[in-house]
Amino acid sequence: MSSFFTDDTSAEDMDLGGEGESLVPDTAASADGFSGSTSSPTVNLVVIDPDDVARNRLAEQLGNDVSSFPVVEDLIPYLNGEPIVIVLGPSCAVDGTLNSVERVIQAHRELGAILVAEELTTNLLQQALRSGVKDVLASPADVTQLNEAIGRVSSSLSSSPSTPVAGEELFEDDGELGQVITVFSTKGGAGKSMIATNLGVTLAQRSDKPVCLVDADLQFGDIAVMLKLSPQHTIVDAVSSLDRLDASLLQNLLVTHESSGLLILPAPLEPAFADQIGATEMMQIVEVLRRFCSHVIVDTPAYFNDVVLGMIEISDEVMLIAGMDIPNIKNVKIGLQTLRLLNTPMEKLHLVLNRANSKVKLDVTEVERTLQVSADILIPSDIVVPQSVNRGVPVVQSSPRSGVAKSLEELASMFLPATAGRGRKK
Ligand SMILES: Nc1ncnc2c1ncn2[C@@H]1O[C@H](COP(=O)(O)OP(=O)(O)OP(=O)(O)O)[C@@H](O)[C@H]1O
Ligand SMILES: [Mg+2]
Repeated sequence: MSSFFTDDTSAEDMDLGGEGESLVPDTAASADGFSGSTSSPTVNLVVIDPDDVARNRLAEQLGNDVSSFPVVEDLIPYLNGEPIVIVLGPSCAVDGTLNSVERVIQAHRELGAILVAEELTTNLLQQALRSGVKDVLASPADVTQLNEAIGRVSSSLSSSPSTPVAGEELFEDDGELGQVITVFSTKGGAGKSMIATNLGVTLAQRSDKPVCLVDADLQFGDIAVMLKLSPQHTIVDAVSSLDRLDASLLQNLLVTHESSGLLILPAPLEPAFADQIGATEMMQIVEVLRRFCSHVIVDTPAYFNDVVLGMIEISDEVMLIAGMDIPNIKNVKIGLQTLRLLNTPMEKLHLVLNRANSKVKLDVTEVERTLQVSADILIPSDIVVPQSVNRGVPVVQSSPRSGVAKSLEELASMFLPATAGRGRKK
């Protein structure tokens, strides 16, 4: 982590305690302003807290290599367009200060803020996100967590020079609703999460608009683990803000899979939270997501519940995943019958046969005849899949030339305009 100051400016040159006066040494504040020329151009970091002790504690925690100010306005004279991550200390978690932060970051798109709050309440989270703060952590924040949050905010600032004004919508609603695709199976371990993740990553890489993957396996969802993400926010935060949920609030709760750009709304971190979330809430969330996403993919648990039924109902397409063994086929047949009974339009159901190798001694045509549905995509079984799951890198990225990756790409093509409607030739 670097500071704004030139290498020859030591931390001792700075008055980190201060009595409200500028904490920046004259040398740094001169001529070329605040940016300095850092040897490792990584993160320009500033700590803000009116309380001297809290400010110094945070600055020390961040390696003493940071600049600090009592109030955010003190930073303004030194801004020169360079991206800066502001870490707001616990005393900033009050209306007046958050309003000032909002004003400053709205006027300076190069700033991204993180709040370290004494107590993490839903109200404060909403208020902070609405003020344009990009992340909120509980105090005392663990250094790794803090550095991860700084890294995320910093990369969002540097990756897009036109980073939108915080608190505004990051992605536009162009009036066109995105496609909702639910990935479902009536058999555990059939490959739903693997397929949902790879579908999401592939679509995100190919779509012009954002793509979001929602982990609706509320008790045991593992999308975040499969993509090696440590989410700060989950569906629980979206549900607790439901009365005020809009695209801008929701966008701040999503985690980005950096290498593909896929946005993820992770499952609750604890199974107990699943009880607080019903079909209505989930449907509301997905409806907001589809306003700015080209595709919203929903991963589900291996059984019918209210949430799954709600997701299937609002989906444009439902991918029904079946493994190539007798118990899988039996359960998927029951699942199909249930969906028919529920009057689910059959046009939106697509069968995906996973682990469809000749070696398993089950004939695809036989399976199709039993299920009375023909398979849209066959995905082979391959050791690269568990390997990629264990590495936390989707197989379309870790082994793009494998047969599995090619089938998954073909699956994704079914949902892209240029190639829509493709799939397996029957
Ligand atoms: N085509 C494949 N080849 C080899 N292994 C596979 C394949 N598809 C899935 N697997 C493996 O099967 C396991 C289960 O996959 P996954 O977690 O995607 O299933 P799931 O249907 O989401 O399970 P659950 O019902 O528990 O949520 C994973 O460890 C994955 O590596
Ligand atoms: Mg799963």
